[in-house]
Amino acid sequence: MQLSDQNTYSVQGIDPHYLVEQFGSPLYVYDGTTIRRKVTELQHAFPGINMKIKYACKANTNLSILRLMREIGVELDVVSPGELEMGMIAGYEGSQITFTPSGVPFEEVREAVEAGAIVNVDSIPLLEWFGQTYGNTKPCLIRIKPNVAAGGNVKIMTAHADSKFGISVLLLDEILEVVKKYNIKIIGLHQHTGSDIKDAEPFLKVADILFETAKHFPDLEVIDLGGGFKVSYLPGDAITDMDLLGKKISERFEKFCSEYGRKLQLWFEPGKFLVSESGYLFVKTTVVKEDPARHFVHVDSGLNHLIRPMMYGSYHHILNVTNPTGEIKPYNVVGYICETDTFASDRNLPEVRPGDVLAFLNAGAYGLTMSSNYNARFRPAEILIDHGQAKLIRRRETLEDLLKTQIEI
Ligand code: LLP
Repeated sequence: MQLSDQNTYSVQGIDPHYLVEQFGSPLYVYDGTTIRRKVTELQHAFPGINMKIKYACKANTNLSILRLMREIGVELDVVSPGELEMGMIAGYEGSQITFTPSGVPFEEVREAVEAGAIVNVDSIPLLEWFGQTYGNTKPCLIRIKPNVAAGGNVKIMTAHADSKFGISVLLLDEILEVVKKYNIKIIGLHQHTGSDIKDAEPFLKVADILFETAKHFPDLEVIDLGGGFKVSYLPGDAITDMDLLGKKISERFEKFCSEYGRKLQLWFEPGKFLVSESGYLFVKTTVVKEDPARHFVHVDSGLNHLIRPMMYGSYHHILNVTNPTGEIKPYNVVGYICETDTFASDRNLPEVRPGDVLAFLNAGAYGLTMSSNYNARFRPAEILIDHGQAKLIRRRETLEDLLKTQIEI
């Protein structure tokens, strides 16, 4: 979002007030230019490497976002049959989709294989089932848990010993036994360390573990290092230095390929990195409560629309779009849900008045996809602004949407 010399905010030249008037509040707005820029940034960080981006679409599954990703050459990582179907509706071929399940019913894995997707097998029982079911007729990757703890907070770490995800690297002998028993065609090793990882070091550590493990698998075509790059949630925030990380991983990857004796593909599955900064949640201030202890700003949204601050204590930067030059005061920005849904405590904002439009930044990833209908509230509309044009890509829900699955007896 840009702030002009006249102190007005805009997204690709469009005034947020216009969007809120036109499409209602609260409103999710995504800037297509930012998504394109992030994709290019990642591609440029790995020059000379056969690198593929598999967008972890759990971050944002709007079909128009998926289509945009497909158009710019980004493939897909999905975690459920629902995401798989959405990917196919958005025009992806099954072969462009990776299915990375977490302890799902094996029938879901069958669905993915039948759709032509490649599976990251995440447990020994699933590996057994895969071998029994497909022998060596279908390729798969194995999701390794490298036992490395990294991530913004413990809830979003996925590779430490205590994590439920993947097959521990310590079980390599068992893995090899099952692979041999059924002659399973293992074409890749996968791992995902966690989310919000700033430093290169954990990425390098897990890459080394994967390269070492890969020596036991003679027919690999792919090393998949997952996602988890840290984006900026706070202006000036330290983020993953992609050029540095790209350079360091590329060096190690090329060394590994030459030792392995074959050029492999390197895959990444970023979610946040590609879409977080593209998104804004615009809300309207309903009530400003001058409590003796605090100034409370209530907005027409809550944990039902953006749960990250309440679930992880995540920081989302807030702008007062209507009054950017107001006197700075500390506020608790809170929602309208009957829970303590605090978006921000003691946050310095330009004076907030009832009716002001506020913008939560970094709302492009894990915003609407983690939303709910709690308190019988409707999900907001979504807008994609691309090539200077704002288009409605999801209408706001209505009572009918809430009632359509209920059966009155
Ligand atoms: N690959 C796998 C297997 C994953 O489980 C995830 C995220 C990703 C890739 C993408 O990670 P990213 O690049 O977005 O960090 N809801 C949390 C994040 C949970 C991520 C779960 N897995 C949040 O809002 O911070």
